[in-house]
Amino acid sequence: MLQSKNKPPIVIAIDGTSASGKSTNSKLVAKALGFVHVDTGAMYRTLAWYCLQQRIDVQNAKAVAAACRRWKTALKCADGHAYLVVDGYYPAREIRTAEVSAAVSHVATVSKVREWMKKTQHECIKFGSLVMEGRDIGTNVFPETDFKYYLDAKLEERSRRRAADGIQENLAARDQRDSQRAVAPLMIALGAKVINNSQMTSDQTSATILADIRKRMAEREQAQARKPKAEAR
Ligand code: DC
Repeated sequence: MLQSKNKPPIVIAIDGTSASGKSTNSKLVAKALGFVHVDTGAMYRTLAWYCLQQRIDVQNAKAVAAACRRWKTALKCADGHAYLVVDGYYPAREIRTAEVSAAVSHVATVSKVREWMKKTQHECIKFGSLVMEGRDIGTNVFPETDFKYYLDAKLEERSRRRAADGIQENLAARDQRDSQRAVAPLMIALGAKVINNSQMTSDQTSATILADIRKRMAEREQAQARKPKAEAR
């Protein structure tokens, strides 16, 4: 673990396109650092699943916002992962269906939903230092963090990865909806390290991220060590 007990929690923000390896690499990085992994896409998927369950039209922003106001959720942290439960239940398998994948980017365009998600994602800090993956973590949820990463890969490679997982999905359409929505669109955060991993394994990608985290941490500590001297002059 890189963090000392009395230091404030650190947030590692990992954003990027669909199937760019965010989940695999975020989990590897969280495990290596001993930080809690948070999949914010799973939170949006959980709301999409809930709406489908409740027969709410996911294209009706008002109805989706109302559902987000009234659903009964709690944040849980187990085995190094933080996630949302609805009425005490985490729909781990249900949120990965093609139906939920098709519905989720509609739910994610609703500004009241994004406000709720941002607040809830902030609350995850109560679990300690985090590796949080999503689309707007470095730009909107924790823009103040020094540790921002943006993963991407060629569309053909990302489609191949999804197909290898047994999922047929129009990634180009989802990327377009994620990057063109009015609220918190998918963008490269200022200061983010961009990693195109089309030709890289997940071990190589996570090693690149970890090396950069260690470099940035060392720079931060050096800057902090210099501060009192500068102030004393
Ligand atoms: O990473 P994923 O495929 O599970 O994400 C599901 C959807 O949620 C995706 O269409 C983008 C959206 N999302 C978002 O808008 N903001 C986030 N922080 C995470 C996911």
